[in-house]
Amino acid sequence: MNNKYANRVKGMGDGEIGEFLRLVGRGDIISFAGGIPAEDIFPIEELKSLINQLVMEKGGKLFQYGSTEGSNQLKDFIIDFMQQRMIKTKREELLITTGSQQALDLISKIFLNPGDPVLVEKPAYVGGLGAFKSYQADIRGIELGEDGPDITGLEEELARIAGQGRAVKLIYLVPDFSNPSGIRISLEKRKRILELANRYDFYLIEDTPYSELNYYDQRLPFLKELDLTERVIFLGTFSKFFVPGLRIGWVSANQEIIKILGRAKQSTDLASNSLGQELIARAGKQGLIDQQIERIKPYYRLRLEAMGTALGKYFPNWTSWSQPAGGFFYWVKLPVRIKSRDLLLRAIENKVAFVSGNSFFARAEDGNSFIRLSFSNSSPAEIEEGIKLLGKIIKDY
Ligand SMILES: Cc1ncc(COP(=O)(O)O)c(C=O)c1O
Repeated sequence: MNNKYANRVKGMGDGEIGEFLRLVGRGDIISFAGGIPAEDIFPIEELKSLINQLVMEKGGKLFQYGSTEGSNQLKDFIIDFMQQRMIKTKREELLITTGSQQALDLISKIFLNPGDPVLVEKPAYVGGLGAFKSYQADIRGIELGEDGPDITGLEEELARIAGQGRAVKLIYLVPDFSNPSGIRISLEKRKRILELANRYDFYLIEDTPYSELNYYDQRLPFLKELDLTERVIFLGTFSKFFVPGLRIGWVSANQEIIKILGRAKQSTDLASNSLGQELIARAGKQGLIDQQIERIKPYYRLRLEAMGTALGKYFPNWTSWSQPAGGFFYWVKLPVRIKSRDLLLRAIENKVAFVSGNSFFARAEDGNSFIRLSFSNSSPAEIEEGIKLLGKIIKDY
């Protein structure tokens, strides 16, 4: 690339998220690629009637600019929603964002100077990595065990960075059913990580898109609930448990951070979309969101179980995979001789798709022998067929 572009463009990656979204759009392929919710389960009729109600009541105001911080009606719904999940917040501690992806960008914008260290899960959400990279952060991955980050490894990394006279400002975690690993951080580890945040003086980004997609048991307390010292910057989104196309998410953090994020948002998009905010606020008030969360859990659980069964049946016993209890993903480990990007090319030729593991690591080659399979947007029959195909492609590799 010639040097007319800013240095940060080098950190922007090769647009792999865009690639997944395009693969999803191709009708002839069984796609386990996009981490997207299923349209079949969107509450279309209810949304249609809410839109009509809102247009009748509010007329042009519904399509006017809103405030940068976001609609108070929506904030009041979010305050109740979080209260039910044992988190106290108030309007001044909330910023409505254009999805939680925007929150990741704004947080990077206000905290990171080039070269600042950021600690992430290894593997980590590709969009989080993308945001940190585009602000030229020094991204360090912390290995994940079955119950969350390796705490000894985390402490060692913090000590190493402190020993270099530098400070970690941010750690990025998806504590519930992470993307791509499917892992949920244990209560014990949540507490340990918060202790480290206090000891080493950093903020924790708690990104929670899959927290409601808990198919088997009681939820674990959010880091934000356990946080007594305002270390946690909580990110919520309506994308996975309601609808993603309205592009509405939120940040809950201390007032000062929210104020500065608001200033950053102003120069990014002025405000999030008004119709989406009003629609979600009204859906929330009428109980539609709670109802939708209950509706989708058995729907996705069926798909999670179909994929688990199909993997057991069709994948060779020299592959292994996570056992998620929620979220959208299986994370599969292949032998090192199989390169997941080559495998993807063969899979696409055979009309089945996934995401190669490379996307989820700061050093792409660390993901050479992993693949991410999303079960959220395929029927149980497609899951059976697609995993059977993929199992054969892996065996033939
Ligand atoms: C972990 C994680 N964070 C954030 C996002 C972005 O979601 P949103 O639609 O709220 O921008 C995603 C979407 O896949 C995700 O998996």
